[in-house]
Amino acid sequence: MSTATDLVETVRTPAVRLTGITKRYPGVVANSDINLSVRRASVHALVGENGAGKSTLMKTLFGLHQPDEGTIEVDGRVCSFHSPADAISAGIGMVHQHFMLADNLTVWENVVLGSEPVSGGRLDGARARADISEIGRRYGLYVDPKALVEELGVGARQRVEIIKVLYRGAKILILDEPTAVLVPQEVDELFGNLAGLKAEGLTIIFISHKLDEVRAIADEITVIRRGTTVGTADPRSVTNRQLAEMMVGSALPVPELRESTVTDQVMLRLAGVRVTSAEGRDVLTDIDLTIHAGEVLGIAGVEGNGQAELVDAIMGITPIAEGTVSLDSIDITALSTLKRREAGIGFISEDRHRQGLTLLASLWENRALGFQTRRPVAKGIFLDRAATKADTRRIVQEFDVRTPGIDVLAAALSGGNQQKLIVGREMSGNPVLLIASHPTRGVDVGAQAAIWEQLRKARAAGLAVLLISADLEELIGMSDTLTVILRGRLVGRFEPRDVTPEILGIAMTGGHEADPTETPEA
Ligand SMILES: Nc1ncnc2c1ncn2[C@@H]1O[C@H](COP(=O)(O)OP(=O)(O)O)[C@@H](O)[C@H]1O
Ligand SMILES: [Mg+2]
Repeated sequence: MSTATDLVETVRTPAVRLTGITKRYPGVVANSDINLSVRRASVHALVGENGAGKSTLMKTLFGLHQPDEGTIEVDGRVCSFHSPADAISAGIGMVHQHFMLADNLTVWENVVLGSEPVSGGRLDGARARADISEIGRRYGLYVDPKALVEELGVGARQRVEIIKVLYRGAKILILDEPTAVLVPQEVDELFGNLAGLKAEGLTIIFISHKLDEVRAIADEITVIRRGTTVGTADPRSVTNRQLAEMMVGSALPVPELRESTVTDQVMLRLAGVRVTSAEGRDVLTDIDLTIHAGEVLGIAGVEGNGQAELVDAIMGITPIAEGTVSLDSIDITALSTLKRREAGIGFISEDRHRQGLTLLASLWENRALGFQTRRPVAKGIFLDRAATKADTRRIVQEFDVRTPGIDVLAAALSGGNQQKLIVGREMSGNPVLLIASHPTRGVDVGAQAAIWEQLRKARAAGLAVLLISADLEELIGMSDTLTVILRGRLVGRFEPRDVTPEILGIAMTGGHEADPTETPEA
């Protein structure tokens, strides 16, 4: 017979408790002495940098592998899972980072796949569809059971994954970086769904490294760093900065340059540059700009005001209509992109997946991109594999690219590690000028700090840098000189020491030209 004390015990017993979990992969300790306690009917966020060991821990809880040490308790009972089937029967479900649905099947077929309801020896589709509709109603997870999965958007596919897990009776849901694939509006919908699940008494383990999201959805937060738990935080009182500091294990890096290294040697000069679009409209007008050795010139602007065209003009990706571009006093206006790169321009492009990397090639093959004609990649007209690989290892080491090796595909690395590889490659061969377009966009704080440090080092060694960034703190902190680009023109220069993001923001939107007689461009 259950007493009031028993009831209190049940409520207090964590839905999940992991104690001293250690999991080793060959050569890597992915989890080391992890402790995690998840309250029933709560959203518990597990946060940590890429590679911290979040997915590994959740695979342990879901029975995809066994821990080397430690215990798993579910609802106060010690469990040992030999397969996901064991975890599922203990009420645990997992939605993986990458969806695992069959595109050519309908929603209901996907949901029941592997646990089909049968009646009289036949698959009972009607019952399955009814069950799915019931789950949808109960938890507010709307999706048409008869729709083909290939016709669904990402948000709906994710709902199917969640329904699939609920259909198997899960009371504890693991969502591994569910928002990584969603647009903001879909994130809101997901959060609505999670709140509904929680209200129905389900427990959710939510993995993310996006701190705003975590603080918005979680009831409790556990932080893991380099494979081990470093603490818990209360989302109502913790700040992003505090969380980020727990994640990286030190005071957060600040973008700053410290002492000036600007010399009087002009490395890049654009004089009277005009660029026109295919329709003959000016996209860059009257661009005069100089960057000295040891100087970082920051360009602020709302996206689409000519930044991309400016980069293209300097890199020789598109021809200019008027004006000259010179590098270290040599006119390069007529040179091809490859020749400009050979002349000493490094280029961190805005879109690392379209321009910076070939995701389905190895790290060392990516090292060769853009360097096909130069040492150490080329030896005469031949590719020098050994030297390219050796230099890739150097980059991995010097730029702290976290990877199991240089033969893995670029796609296997996290965004931050991909970006560090690009930065390392573009800084090799001693460039005299670096074009850095959003160099730290979408990377975690650790990688961001590493990239800033590399920029500072190269600047001190005399590199000239053109920095474009939407992160105004970064732009102000990392620039010696600041200028704003607006409708294809450079408008105004700012002293990074005196300017604030607010002042820049006003200039970026043309707010300082408060001239009512000015007619907006058609
Ligand atoms: N199957 C595997 N074999 C070897 N190493 C792995 C494997 N899976 C993950 N790792 C390594 O374990 C560490 C933790 O990875 P992971 O748990 O995926 O981190 P997170 O999910 O926090 O980004 C990383 O160093 C990663 O490279
Ligand atoms: Mg992961």
